[in-house]
Amino acid sequence: KTVTGFASATIGNVACGFDVLGFAIREPGDEVILTLHDSEPSTSPVSIKAIHGDGGALPKDPKKNTSSFVVLKFLEYLRTHKDIDFQGHIELELRKNLPLSSGMGSSAASAAAALAAANELLGSPCTKMELVHFAIEGERVACGSAHADNAAPAMLGNFILIRSYNPLDLVTIPPPQHLYCTLAHPHIEVRTAYARSVLPRTIPLKTATEQWGNVGALVSGLLTSDYELIGRSLVDVVAEPKRAPLIPGFYDVKNAALEAGALGCSIAGSGPSVFAFSSSKETAEQVGSAMKEAFSTIEERLDADIWVS
Ligand code: HSE
Repeated sequence: KTVTGFASATIGNVACGFDVLGFAIREPGDEVILTLHDSEPSTSPVSIKAIHGDGGALPKDPKKNTSSFVVLKFLEYLRTHKDIDFQGHIELELRKNLPLSSGMGSSAASAAAALAAANELLGSPCTKMELVHFAIEGERVACGSAHADNAAPAMLGNFILIRSYNPLDLVTIPPPQHLYCTLAHPHIEVRTAYARSVLPRTIPLKTATEQWGNVGALVSGLLTSDYELIGRSLVDVVAEPKRAPLIPGFYDVKNAALEAGALGCSIAGSGPSVFAFSSSKETAEQVGSAMKEAFSTIEERLDADIWVS
């Protein structure tokens, strides 16, 4: 039996919501193909048959690769919590369509696609909400931090607000009908672990106040389809100022997006991708052209891929 799982790119933080807010876009995404064999494995119950599109960068050791690691966690959970003792062997093939270290939730997409496929392969013993826990554990393997703002929306779709990590308490926020996201991915890599290391350990109370005012207003804007409020709240006074220097031309690209009519613009996850919101598809496409043009005219002359969803 063979099952294919798909999970799309996600954008973490959404400006002000560092580690607590993220959303899924429609495409692009990663695919994981799992094949179930009845024979017992000689070593691990999950093995990696092939990885396409990673340029050889991802580990093939099942315990170190995010997509196989989360399936191992899932199988362990079935044994300890559901009394299902898996005896067979799963072969995994990963089609990596998302660029690595891009800020597009690449590792979370691989994990969520693998979990969706594994759950279906074994007769859907877990709910998506249960699977989110393993997807988050995958992030720890991928970058050393178990942040959920990519993993949760990759698994569940929509905007997801993480009210609490322990216990995990997720709030689903459906996107307003006319909200469009433009995502620009410049062809450079920024590793999440590094982009987290440049952040301050503590922040002044005044900065925190400004940040949580924006998070609350952004959530309110999303729930009431108040596009102006969404735009005004797309402000990040904590991570963006520290991470902007890691993205050549970030402020040029942001200004270009705003001039082209975007409601707001910020860094996608830990970068280097940049996202903008617009309230019409036409504007979102114009914003995409403006962002691409801005990346290409800075000193570094970066080529950028653009997606509108
Ligand atoms: N919240 C994470 C970060 C997202 O900003 O480090 C990484 O994509």
